[in-house]
Amino acid sequence: MGIDVAAPRLSWVVEHSGSDVQTGSEVEILRDGGITRHLSDARSTSFLPWPAAPLRSRERAVVRVRSRLESGWADWSDPLPVEAGLLERSDWASDFVSPSLSAPADAARPAYLLRAAFAVRGTVRRARVYASAHGVYDLEVNGGGAGDDDLLSPGWSSYAHRLRYRTLDITGQLADGENVIGAWLADGWYRGRLGFNGGLWNIYGSDVALLCQLELEDDLGARVVPLTWTWAPAPIVSTGLYEGETHDQGLAHAGWSAPGFDDSAWQPTSTIALSGTPAVLEAPTGPAVRVVERLNPVAAERRPDGRVLLDFGQNISGKLEFTARATPGHQIVLRHAEVLEHGELSLRPLRTAQARDVYVFGSDDFETWTPRFTIHGFRYAEVEGWPVDQDPRTIEALVMHSDMSRTGRFSSSDELLDRFHENVVWSMRDNFVDLPTDCPQRDERLGWSGDIQVFAAAAAFLHDSTGVLQNWLRDLAAEQIEYGSVMNFHPWVACGFPSAPAAAWGDAAVIVPWVLYQRTGDTGIIQEQFGSMSAWIEQVYTLTHETGLWNEGFQLGDWLDPAAPPDRPDHSATDRYLVATAYLAHSARLVARAASALGDPAGEERYSGIADKARSAFRRQWVSPAGRVVSDTVTALSLAIAFELLEGAESATAGERLAALVAAGGYRIQTGFVGTPLVCDALASTGHMDDAYHLVLQRETPSWLWPVSMGATTVWERWDSLLPDGSVNPGEMTSFNHYALGAVVDFLHRRVAGLAPAAPGYSSVRFAPEPGGGLSRASAAHESSFGRYEITWVRDSESLAVEMTVPAAGEAVFVNPTDPERIERIGPGTHVIRVPFRAPEDDPRPERVWNIHNPDERRQMELEREGVGG
Ligand code: BGC
Repeated sequence: MGIDVAAPRLSWVVEHSGSDVQTGSEVEILRDGGITRHLSDARSTSFLPWPAAPLRSRERAVVRVRSRLESGWADWSDPLPVEAGLLERSDWASDFVSPSLSAPADAARPAYLLRAAFAVRGTVRRARVYASAHGVYDLEVNGGGAGDDDLLSPGWSSYAHRLRYRTLDITGQLADGENVIGAWLADGWYRGRLGFNGGLWNIYGSDVALLCQLELEDDLGARVVPLTWTWAPAPIVSTGLYEGETHDQGLAHAGWSAPGFDDSAWQPTSTIALSGTPAVLEAPTGPAVRVVERLNPVAAERRPDGRVLLDFGQNISGKLEFTARATPGHQIVLRHAEVLEHGELSLRPLRTAQARDVYVFGSDDFETWTPRFTIHGFRYAEVEGWPVDQDPRTIEALVMHSDMSRTGRFSSSDELLDRFHENVVWSMRDNFVDLPTDCPQRDERLGWSGDIQVFAAAAAFLHDSTGVLQNWLRDLAAEQIEYGSVMNFHPWVACGFPSAPAAAWGDAAVIVPWVLYQRTGDTGIIQEQFGSMSAWIEQVYTLTHETGLWNEGFQLGDWLDPAAPPDRPDHSATDRYLVATAYLAHSARLVARAASALGDPAGEERYSGIADKARSAFRRQWVSPAGRVVSDTVTALSLAIAFELLEGAESATAGERLAALVAAGGYRIQTGFVGTPLVCDALASTGHMDDAYHLVLQRETPSWLWPVSMGATTVWERWDSLLPDGSVNPGEMTSFNHYALGAVVDFLHRRVAGLAPAAPGYSSVRFAPEPGGGLSRASAAHESSFGRYEITWVRDSESLAVEMTVPAAGEAVFVNPTDPERIERIGPGTHVIRVPFRAPEDDPRPERVWNIHNPDERRQMELEREGVGG
C-alpha cells in the first residue's frame, strides 16, 4: 500500500520439496479492469523487472505469478494487490498544519490533538489518507483507529532531506454525512531532545506539524478534501523519547475524534507551506515500528514502602501497559532499567534519559494505559502508586521495534551458546527501532555507523532487515553530500561528537550496501548507493594524499578493546592507523567489486587501483618480510588475514601468530569493535578452527559467554558491563544492549553450522560445517529470497551426519569437513550425508597457559598435573 516505486520488481518463492526447478514464469497484472499476462524465460525467482507499464500515482494493480517448472506449470500464487502512493510532488495538494510553532527548549513538551470534520456524500468508493509529520503522530478516524497499528510514525529520518509518509485505506471507516479525522501529535525526533552531552532540542525545526492529505471518491466524485483543522492540548502533558511520558486522563476530551464533538473552544492551526520543505516525501522502504510481542512479569515484588519491582525476564525496547482502577487524580509512576544494583533499578547507565512515565487517573473506573510517544530499553520496572488491592503481575511489557520478519535461526548442543545467540537476536530487535541504533536505553539510540557496519551480515541473516537498512543508507548518502563526509552516526546530530571521518565507522557506507547485495542478490541496493560508496573511498583516498596510507587524524580505532582504560575506549592496543589503512584497502576492493557487478569497468579499475595502493601501503608499513604484523595484536592480525592483505606463506605465519596470541590470552577476548567480529574467521581460515571454538565457547571474562552466565538476555556494550561482583561497570558507556559484539553469530551460521552464501542472494549456498568444540549438534536455517535453506549436523562417537535442505529455486555444494577438497553438488530437496568423524569428546581442548610466577596458579597447575585439580 502506497509504495513509491512505479515499476516494482517481483520476487517469489517456489514452495515444493522436490527437485523440480523453475525454467520460466508468467506474471498476470489486473489493472483498470484489464488483464495483461507476461511470460519470462528467466530461471530466477528474484527481482524480476516489472513487466508492464509503470504504475501511476494512486494506481492499484493486482498481481499474481506462476512458475514454469520442468514438470509443467505450477499453480498461480495468491493475488497480491499493490498500490502506488503519491509519486510526484505535485500530487500533494495539502500543507502542514501546526498547533505549536515554537516551545521552550528546557523540558519535554506536551502533545496536541488535531481535529478536522468533513462531509461524505452517499457511498464511499475509495478513501485514502497520505500522512506525515514534523514530530510523531497517530491518526484516528470517527472515534476509532485509522486502520493501522504503526507507532512513532513517521519514524526518524534525516528530515531536512527525507520525510516519509504513509498511505492508509480508510474507505471502510467513513459513512454518509459528517466524518472526522483526528491526530495526536508530539515532538518525537523532530523537535524533542536528542543526543548525548545533554542533547539538542529543535534539531529539525521549532514547530510540530501534521501533513495529512485526504482523498475521497463518493457520490460527488473523486477529490482531495480540503480540511480545516483545530487543535487542543492533549492529555499527554509532556512526552519525550528519552524523558518518558506523563498523561493526565483528567484532561482527556471524550469523543474528540468522533462526529458531533463540540470543538468550538479549540484553536485554529497555523499553516506551514509544504512548498517550503526541502525534504523529499517518500514512502517507507521497511516495516513500521509496532508492538510485536507482549511479556508478563516473571517476578513482581512489593516493597515495604509500596513500590512494586517488576522483572520481565528479558531486556527489551518498548513500554509498559496496564489496566487498573484508582481514584481521579491518583498517579502511577513507572521507571525503567536494564539491570538492578543492590536490589534497586540501576539508572546511572541511562545517563540523562529519565525513562519515567506517569499516569494520572481520570475516573474511578478501570483505565488502560500505555504511553503513546515514548520508548524505553529495560528489563526491570519500578511502579510507584500501584493500587494495593490489584495484582501488579497484570502489567505487561510491550516489545516494540521495526516489524521485520525473522529469516535466520541457529541452535546447537550447547545451551549457553544458544542463549548467547538468542541474546544477539534480542539485541538486534531492540536496536532496529526504525533505524539501526547503538543501544535502546540511554541518551543516544543513534544510528552509529560502525556498529551496523560490523553487524550487517548477522542482521541480514537473522531478519529481513533490508528495508530498515536501505532507509538508513539513504539518510547516510544524503547527509554525506551535505557534510562532505560519512558521519559517525546518521542521522547526524551535532551534539559534540567529532564529525571527522573515522575508519570502520565511515566504512559502513560501503560495507552495509555490499553485505545487503551479497545477502539479498539485489543489485538495486549497490546501484542506489554506489555514489555514496565511491564518495567515501574518494574522500579517504584524498585524506591519504593519494598514498593509500591513512596515517593521521581522528580515529576510533579498535573501539572498546578490553585492554583500553575504561575512560579511553579509543586507546586500543592496536595501532589505529593500521585499522584505518586496512579498512581503506578492504572497502576500496568492495567498491571495485560493486562496480564490476554493476557493469562499470572504469569504476572497477579506479577502485581496484586504490585498493592495491592501500594494500601495498599497509604491507610496507605493517607487514614484516616473514609475515608478522606490527602491531602484534589479535585485531591487527585478524584484519590482515580477513581483509586478505597478506600474500603466499604470510597468511600461514600470521595465522600461527594469531593462534599463539589467542592462546596466550587464555582464549579470552582481546579485541574491540573492529577485531571481535573478525577474529574467529581469521583463525578458521588459517587452519585454527579449534582455537576459534575455544574462544567462542570461553566462559570466563572477557568472553561472549561470560555475560550469558551472568544472566544477560541481550549483548552488552562492554565485556564487563556488569563486573564479576555483580556491580555495574563505573564507565560512562555501560549499555546492556549493544549488538556490535554479537556480530560473531555470522561466524556461527557460516562456519559452525556451515550455511554460507556462495553467490549473491543465496542463489547458491556452501554447506561447509566444521564441527568441533565438543559440540555434538549444530543447525542453521535461512529464509532467502530463493526459499529456505537448512542444515543440521549431528555427531556420535565415530561419525557425523549432515542433513541439508535446498529450496526449489536454489542450489548448493557440500564441503566434506574431513577433506575440504571433496565438494559435492546438491540440488533442491533434502539430503543426508554421513562421514566418519571424531567423537565430540575427542575434540581438542584449550591448553591452559599457566603463570608460573603466580604462587596460586603454580599450586593449581601442580594439583592438576597430579590429577587432583579441577
Ligand atoms: C556508542 C557506540 C559507538 C561509539 C563510537 C558510543 O557512544 O554507543 O556504539 O559506536 O560511541 O564512539
